[in-house]
Amino acid sequence: DKGNHRHFMEKEIHEQPEVISHTLANYLDFATGGVKLFETPIDFAKIDRLYISACGTAYLAGLIGKYWLERYARLPVDIDIASEFRYRELPIVPNSAALFVSQSGETADTLASLRYCKNAGIPIAAIVNVRDSTIARESNGIFPTLAGPEIGVASTKAFTCQLSIFASLAIRAGLDRGTLTREDAAAMVRSLSEVPGLIRDALKLESRIEAIARKLSEVRHVLYLGRDTNYPLALEGALKLKEISYIHAEGYAAGELKHGPIALIDKHMPVIVLAPSDRIFEKTVSNMQEVAARGGRIILITDEEGASRTSLDNIETIIMPKVPEFVAPIVYALPIQLLAYHTAVAMGTDVDQPRNLAKSVTVE
Ligand code: M6R
Repeated sequence: DKGNHRHFMEKEIHEQPEVISHTLANYLDFATGGVKLFETPIDFAKIDRLYISACGTAYLAGLIGKYWLERYARLPVDIDIASEFRYRELPIVPNSAALFVSQSGETADTLASLRYCKNAGIPIAAIVNVRDSTIARESNGIFPTLAGPEIGVASTKAFTCQLSIFASLAIRAGLDRGTLTREDAAAMVRSLSEVPGLIRDALKLESRIEAIARKLSEVRHVLYLGRDTNYPLALEGALKLKEISYIHAEGYAAGELKHGPIALIDKHMPVIVLAPSDRIFEKTVSNMQEVAARGGRIILITDEEGASRTSLDNIETIIMPKVPEFVAPIVYALPIQLLAYHTAVAMGTDVDQPRNLAKSVTVE
């Protein structure tokens, strides 16, 4: 049932404040600022390496998870696209564990990667949305996302719930490994507790985003740029847009611009920049200047402070609420989902069932 919404995707985008709250409540104690003693098949204090593997949007959640686990828990993470992982014959090191990410829990390549790790005898965990799925059953333990059924082919609420779990695991792993103090952890839990409210604020930008999307529906190619945890989000923005609007889109780490993609920039090429004002904001500004100098159109997604620190011609801004740096990718997922959604609606594509795609990819 779509309720008052035109599409399941729209409904699922709007459900995010609620489902993220439910998901986080499984792992965190907002009252005390602590982490709940949830069951985990992975002993974060003991392992030297974590293998993460998944497909599509779930893979991109894992990529953000890698940044967090390495930064806050000093835990080395290897991450692969599952279709590569399963065949590349990598050595599994001792004292390691594996974590798989899947909304459906039925993705063929992810399941094959899981079995490869199982064969190697290491502990297996999965972040899954469907609790009675094959991936859930074959894991030693699961971290369930409480997103509820996701019907739209484009993953939205499952993605932000996956990120919420990765953020919680980074805190848990940081405490277990002694890289975070109780105070650090409490501050991070506080940041996460703000996420549902910040997403509600971001949803208020919908009509502004819709206006920008109408113009986007007239172009053939779009580039997304971001740094640090906003880099995987740039990849996710491009995936979402191409999936449902059929506009060719690519995501790049902003620092890679001059290593190739800058050659594409002209006045027909909109560049969407994901840049909250954070410790590397200035670096991204200099990449934007390079785009502007070549006549590129910039759509900057930032906050008040970020907007006031950029003065460029030919720029449109989407002004987000100020978000704590740690949780920024969860909140900044909203404008990229809405941008893809409204672009597809403006183009009249089948948003919930885009051509050539299946919700669950059970064959390789
Ligand atoms: O069910 P899974 O999370 O394992 O699915 C993985 C991908 O097929 C999925 O995320 C796909 O990329 C989405 N359509 C993206 O919106």
